[in-house]
Order: sequence, then C-alpha cells, then structure tokens
Amino acid sequence: MLIPSRTQVGIVGAGPAGLMLSHLLHLQGIESVVIENRSRQYVEERVRAGVLEHGTVSLLTETGVGERMKREGMVHHGIELRFHERGHRIDFEDLTGGKGITIYSQHEVVKDLTNARLAAGGQVLFEVEKVSVHDFDDSQATRSKPKIRYRKDAQNCELTCDFLAGCDGFHGICRPSIPAAVLVEYERIYPFGWLGILAEAPPSSDELIYTYHDRGFALLSMRSEKISRLYLQCQPEEDIDLWPDERIWQELNTRLASEGWHLTHGPILQKGVTGMRSFVVEPMQYGRMFLAGDSAHIVPPTGAKGLNLAVADVRVLARGLADFYATGRRELLDAYSQTCLRRVWKVQRFSWWMTSMLHRFPGDNPFDNRRQLAELDYVTSSRAASQSLAENYVGLPMEW
Ligand code: PHB
Repeated sequence: MLIPSRTQVGIVGAGPAGLMLSHLLHLQGIESVVIENRSRQYVEERVRAGVLEHGTVSLLTETGVGERMKREGMVHHGIELRFHERGHRIDFEDLTGGKGITIYSQHEVVKDLTNARLAAGGQVLFEVEKVSVHDFDDSQATRSKPKIRYRKDAQNCELTCDFLAGCDGFHGICRPSIPAAVLVEYERIYPFGWLGILAEAPPSSDELIYTYHDRGFALLSMRSEKISRLYLQCQPEEDIDLWPDERIWQELNTRLASEGWHLTHGPILQKGVTGMRSFVVEPMQYGRMFLAGDSAHIVPPTGAKGLNLAVADVRVLARGLADFYATGRRELLDAYSQTCLRRVWKVQRFSWWMTSMLHRFPGDNPFDNRRQLAELDYVTSSRAASQSLAENYVGLPMEW
C-alpha cells in the first residue's frame, strides 16, 4: 500500500466517530486519512451497544451507508420500564410524533462505514503503531502544519495535515497531547458496573426492558431475532469467573421476573464486565485539533447514547470543515466545542438520570429506594414525564 504523506484532515481512530467523519468529509470533496492502531478485524468485531437514534438512522440512510441497516436492523417504537414485577411501556411513536430507534450493532455500523470508505478509495490504515500528534498549536509562533507520526510495517511515517481529528476513544493519545492546563475534566464514576452477555436465545420481548429491582438493575436487549443481549448491574470490578452461566440466568430470571412472562435461555456466546462513568472534557478543541466521540466524553450506557453522541460531534465538525474549505471562514470551526457541548451536556444529564433512576446504590438508603420508585411511577404515569424520556431516548434534534 502506498503510504500517504499529506492530506487535508488526519483522523486518529477508526471507530464510528473517525469513520463517519471521513465519510462525511468525502461527500463534501474533502480528503482525509484514518489511522488506527488495532486490526480491522478487532474493530469490526468489538461488541458494543446497539441502539441508533432516529437522527443517526436518517444520517446513515441519507449518506448512502444505511442499506444493510435497513435490511437487518430492528425498528422499535418503544421501551418497557419494569419495576415491582410489572411492565410499563413508553410509547415513542405516540410521544414523539412517530419517531423510533433502530437496534443495529455498533460494530455493524463500523463494518458498513469501513466498506464505504474503502470502496470510495478512502485511506484507512489499520495496525499502525506508536501514533503521536504534533504541531497543532494554533499560536502565531507555530508556522508548521499539524502532523501525525506513526509506524507502519516497520517504517516510520509522517502525515502532514491541515487539521487533526482525535477520534481515538477515552484511552487514546489525542486528548493527553493537548496541554493539560488548557483542559478542564468533569467526571463521575459510578459505584457499579454492568455484566453483559450475548446469548443464542430468541429475545423474550419485542422491545428493550429496563428493570429496577431490589437486587439491582437488569436490561434485556437484543441483536437479532435469534440473539439476546442481557445486562446485570454488578460490582465495578466484578470477577467474571464468579459468574458461571447458571448463576447469570438465575439472576436475570429473578430481576426480570414478571407474571406470565418467561425469559428464554440459550448458550452464552460472550460475557464481560464494563465500568460506568460520566466524563466530559472542555473545550473539545485546541488549535487545529478537534476531539470527537469518546476521546471527549463518556456516558454510562443506560441511555444508549455513546455512538449517537459521537455521530452528532462529527456532523458538527464536518460542517465546520466544509465551510472552511468552501469559504476560508473559521467561525463554525471555532464554535465546534461550544456547539457540541450543548448537546453533550444534555445527553450527559439524560444518561446520568436514567442511571440514577434504575440502579441500586451502595448503602441501600431506604429514602433513595422510595424516591426511585416514585420517579419510575411518575415517569410511567405522567404523559409529560414519559414524553421527556421519549424525546431524549429517540434523540434530541441537532442544534447547529
Ligand atoms: C445494547 O443492546 O447493548 C444496549 C441497549 C440499551 C442500552 C445499553 C446497551 O441502554
């Protein structure tokens, strides 16, 4: 492969943010190169969440990468909140004027975007090593252009760019490359995690079920008509070896129990534990580097927002870059962080709220327990409250 030495936008990370940005830029006639330290197979198989907001679905469709999603994705028009062994449906269609969500795995979105980029002659370099970013400080003193340095096939490579996009996730190298004094970090770490499984079992419900139970939160989700995805609230550092399959099924049965309802079982294909945090860095840009997706913010998975927020960031960034290349104006680029953060904080609030309402917190405070049940009762019985949940869940409108 010919190793590029110059491009307009250098993108670090081939996850949903990096690939979507590259795709959107391509549609505007802007060149980019995506650099990824993992293998293509790793990125395409990494199991993550699977809920696409209404607006994310529209964007994938309108930009020509929604064909397989339309065929294989599952459109849902509501979710169930379950507590005291009873289910309460939140009807998105009715509450949001016809909107819904689509269940389609993040790694399927990544596959579709990678295929689209490669088919259009796009440059996505996998398995690069020792990635570093340089010269993106915008001060007058710096005359040289931003650069990405990396090793590929035992060669030292340098890519010179007009702009850099840090789409390399929470543990990536881009955020820490910005002078620490410039950034303010906001963080909350939750005192629990999620134990997640993928099971070869037809989903026991047509829609997702979020359950509040004395023993902790549980979630029933799915990937297809044959595959269920299920989660249990657990300790943040839970030892997965203490959870043989029978124990997982038993706990899921207890927490999800509801009269006349049965949980379908099947072979467990995968299991793992994830921690839960809320995190935001401000600003999301420095000089000619822009952070997008998990490199700038993390949400706990209870609101199903991670991928959708990453896509919203890169929409704003692609528009700013397109305006710059078309007119030479930097106003939209300069406002990138401010524009994104308005949505980021609203999504943070929603994800924190769903998490706080549905999980048991250590200490077992009886007041909190009653308050959470009152909140669930309110959300499922007041049209105003359920509408608020619904409009956030299907995705707030883009505000430019
Ligand atoms: C998932 O299907 O993996 C999933 C669904 C909803 C969530 C989180 C994860 O809130």
